[in-house]
Order: sequence, then structure tokens, then C-alpha cells
Amino acid sequence: MKMRILGTGSSLPKNLVTNDDLAKIMDTSDEWIRERTGIRSRHISTGETVVDLATDACLKALENAGKKPEDVELILVATVSPEVSIPSAACQVQAKLNADNAAAFDINAACSGFIFALTTANAYIQSGMFKNALVVGAEVLSKIMDWNDRGTCILFGDGAGAVYVEADENAENDFCSVIHSNGKKGVVLHCPTRDIKNPWYEQEETVKFVSMDGREVFKFAVSQVPLCLEEVLEKANITKDDVDMFVLHQANLRIISSISKRYERGMEFFPCNMDRVGNMSSASIPVLLDECHRNGTVKKGMKIAMAGFGAGLTYGAAVFTF
Ligand code: UT7
Repeated sequence: MKMRILGTGSSLPKNLVTNDDLAKIMDTSDEWIRERTGIRSRHISTGETVVDLATDACLKALENAGKKPEDVELILVATVSPEVSIPSAACQVQAKLNADNAAAFDINAACSGFIFALTTANAYIQSGMFKNALVVGAEVLSKIMDWNDRGTCILFGDGAGAVYVEADENAENDFCSVIHSNGKKGVVLHCPTRDIKNPWYEQEETVKFVSMDGREVFKFAVSQVPLCLEEVLEKANITKDDVDMFVLHQANLRIISSISKRYERGMEFFPCNMDRVGNMSSASIPVLLDECHRNGTVKKGMKIAMAGFGAGLTYGAAVFTF
């Protein structure tokens, strides 16, 4: 059975925070942030939750696909910033959507989460277990950032993107993906949750915010992302020149332009939105895909390549006909 994306949707918090706004509350500047990252602004939640944003993105993806919540058989939410540990964000989204016929669970693969979730949906659809799925990347990273760590907090934004995918007998069966993890490097991008505190054991208190070795993550991204893309292109039996658009994780403009140079494909093949929305971890790729779909940069029939990398460490890539 073949999987095809039939609808896309996205949702961002209303509050827009520019680099100049950040410079008022920490020792940074618009120039430093723009030159090092390409980011000019990001949306930061003033109360919108992962579940609110994910639900809104799902409703738009369903509307775009001409489907109803009760049609949905599977909901996968990729997130590292759910409001609660239990129940999953996916189950909360299911409840808000009234998608009563869907199985729902979360996937934590950080910035690669959307590709891991899409790969999971494809496996279920190919097996025949489910006929369709809502695949979501949703984050409110602002609540797990250390706003005193100017080297990290300036990068990230909040938002959600979703796609509705369906089994399609007539589709060219070309969804192809690769996913990888390197848990031994987990410490370079890390966020503790709660400490153990019970009658038998009490852990020393830890800081509960994201800590990142930016240079290590940067080196990892520029070396692994092109290799991962090459692996998926080879698996799909196509070349980089067959790809119409590269929809990549929006971490840093310098990372994307290094891939554009290495592939000898101009930046017009690498749409970017990190200047407006920053790095939204698992939401980056689906929000960008939705924007490109709605503004006509990505059209039906185009060959799309995606690649993501992030905490875990995790990395993955996918190619498919949109
Ligand atoms: O989705 C995956 C998530 N993570 C990533 O993709 C991160 C990848 N890494 C990066 O994008 C870059 O490493 C950063 C943008 C995070 C940092 O850029 P960098 O060129 O690696 O800078 P750095 O951390 O080496 O810092 C250079 C200097 C330091 O000052 P000194 O020690 O040279 O005097 C920092 O203290 O820049 C300083 N600095 C800042 N200055 C102004 C760090 N953050 C800031 C800031 N504003 N916000």
C-alpha cells in the first residue's frame, strides 16, 4: 500500500518576538543573531499549548485534504515539549479533534521527530494496519529554554505543522526514508525533566532547561545531513538533480547554504522560513512544507526531499512525490 500526503496545515502563536526585542532583555544584538543563524524573529507562546497548536494545524490539514476528524485512524505527534507526561499530546489532540476512531501516540526524536513520525506512519500504512494518519510536529520550546543562556534561547520558536496522509493505490510508490540515532552523543543537546524524590531516593536538584553545545551540533549537522540525504536518494534510486525542492530542518541558514553549495543546487531549491519563525524543532519541517504548499513553492507532482537532525542525537531524511 502506498502513502501520499493529501493535506497540510500549520499554526503559530500570535506573539512575534524580534531579535531587537531579545536585545532588550539579554546581552545580544540583531546583527549577531542574523549573521550566525539567519533568524530575525520567532513566535513565542503567551499561553497557546502544544495541544492547541497541534489541534489547529490538524484541523487545517484535514480541511486541506477534504477529510473529517472521524475519518482519521492514526494520530502521531512528534514533540519534546508536551504540557504533561501523561496522557500523550497525541491523545489530547485526538480528544480535542473528536477523532474518536484514531489510535494516538507521541514520538520523541527532537528536531528529526517529524521525519521519524512520517516514517512510522508509512510503515503502518504499508503494512495495511491503518489506511490514513495525521502526522504532526508541535513544540512550545519557549518553556524549556533557559532565557539566561543567550547562545541557545535565541535560536528557538514555538509552532506546529501537520500533514494528513492516506494509502493510495494509484500513487507512485516512492515514499522512501532513512532514520538514524546516535545515543552516545545525547549529552550535546540535553534537557532533564523532573528529579526523583520519594521515600527511598532523593536526587540532587538539576536545572530543567535545554543545554546545548552549539558548535558540536553544528559540526554534526553539516557532516551528517548531506550523508543522510545521499543515503535516502540512493535508496530511492534517484539523484539530487531529480529533487525539485529540499524542505530541510530550519536550524541555521549557514547549515542549509553549506548543503546547497555541496549539492551545487542554488538556494532557490532550499526554501527557508527560519528568518521569520526560528528553529521549531519537530515543527520546523511540517510548518515549512505547509507554507510552501500554500504559497505554491511546492506543487502536486514535485519530488520533495526532507532532512532533519537534532537531539538524541537523531537524524533522518525522506524523499517522495508530493
Ligand atoms: O535543531 C538543532 C538545534 N541546534 C542547532 O542547530 C545549533 C547549531 N549551532 C549553531 O547554530 C551555532 O553554534 C550557534 C548559532 C548556536 C552559535 O554560533 P557559534 O558561531 O558556534 O558561536 P559560539 O557559541 O562559538 O559563540 C561565539 C561568541 C562567544 O563569545 P566569545 O567567547 O567568543 O567572546 C559567545 O559568548 O559569541 C558569543 N555569543 C553571543 N553573542 C551575542 C553566544 N551567543 C550570543 C548571542 N549574542 N546570542
